Amino acid sequence: MSFQAPKGTFDWMPPRSERVLAVRDALAAPARRAGYGYIETPAFEDTGLFSRGVGESTDIVTKEMYTFEDKGGRSITLRPEGTASVMRAVIEHGLPGGPLPVKLWYSGSYYRYERAQKGRYRHFSQVGAEAIGTEDPAVDAELITLAVDGYASLGLSGVRLLLNSLGCAECRPAYRAALQDFLRGLDLDEQTRQRIEINPLRVLDDKRPQVQAQLTGAPLVTDHLCGACKAYHEEVRTLLTAAGVKYTDDPRLVRGLDYYTRTTFEFLHDGLGAQSAVGGGGRYDGLSEMIGGPPLPSVGWALGVDRTVLAMEAEGLFDAEPATVDVFAVPLGEEAKRVAFGLVVELRRAGLSADMAFGGRGVKGAMKAADRSGARFALILGDRDLAAGAVQLKDLTTAEQTAVPLAEVADTLKGKLS
Ligand code: HAM
Repeated sequence: MSFQAPKGTFDWMPPRSERVLAVRDALAAPARRAGYGYIETPAFEDTGLFSRGVGESTDIVTKEMYTFEDKGGRSITLRPEGTASVMRAVIEHGLPGGPLPVKLWYSGSYYRYERAQKGRYRHFSQVGAEAIGTEDPAVDAELITLAVDGYASLGLSGVRLLLNSLGCAECRPAYRAALQDFLRGLDLDEQTRQRIEINPLRVLDDKRPQVQAQLTGAPLVTDHLCGACKAYHEEVRTLLTAAGVKYTDDPRLVRGLDYYTRTTFEFLHDGLGAQSAVGGGGRYDGLSEMIGGPPLPSVGWALGVDRTVLAMEAEGLFDAEPATVDVFAVPLGEEAKRVAFGLVVELRRAGLSADMAFGGRGVKGAMKAADRSGARFALILGDRDLAAGAVQLKDLTTAEQTAVPLAEVADTLKGKLS
């Protein structure tokens, strides 16, 4: 019997897996440059953290969580997202004495029991950033700009940014009531009617054409913002424009998690199959209190690593596979192999990336391995050269070949590769 990865999951294998590493680094780099510190939290938490934090009425909590009882009788859930965990950790460890916000970034695996399809997986990877403890439109604008810069650094040109404000505890209840009034008058199925009572904003997100057609006249949250939320949102927009960030106002943008207040945003790309969100986030001023902490107004985002790779592939941004090493050694005999082994070790210790032919495949197989590695240089170790204390250094792009004394190989290569 053989096994396959569970439904909705897959393996990133070389060489394509290099793309994942590159994307993860690039998406995190702008946040790291802006003073965000790295946080790592467990892959599982108490189930209550997510049901209270993410929200009892969300799809994530009602349908998608991997929840089980551990051997100690605790209800445990594999994390479906990172924000609740980060907030839990900050509350648990206490705020550092320094200035707020506490700025944190993370990267890891998340788990949702979703209907599996291209770009939608049951195990996926995110890079996230959260700024905790400050209510300041400049922080919202900073985070959005960092995500925009991350996508841009990867060369992506097809990422669009949608921006909205969902109001606050002051103005949201009146909007919610107005929306419920409107929705109750529509021709909707029983399940959707129930949703109107529990989470009416989610109805706006219903993708079915017969529902969308009825929503044209729905009240918009942006028409119901209180003065403070309006001014806050205006300032976020002004700062984004000043930073050269292009966005589209979308008063219908609602997100799949309940903790959002004020600023919400989503990054979309059209190369992802049935869905289009490569990333998203927003402000969550009430989350800390929802999970038993002090008032800590906060904002953050999470960017999907797998989906960003798909978006880049759709834009043809990875034409050639990256080289695995710079240098590849090809020994022509048993004694040469011992020398090659020592030489490769020396090169690696000198900071070069180097590999060699293993397994006694003969010269042809070894040269093929050198080609496949993508290395720029091959070191060919034959008996005659070795007797003279030298190896042949072959530039695999020009096929030019020169003898180099063994003792000078590392320095010669360093010079050529710098
Ligand atoms: P989210 O919108 O649920 O937000 O997820 C963020 C991103 O993760 C999505 O835009 C998408 O790229 C990726 N993603 C989500 N689910 C899947 C899936 N099943 N398969 C592949 N990729 C997926 C959050 O998770 C919030 N914690 C973001 C946040 C941080 N808000 C404030 N701070």
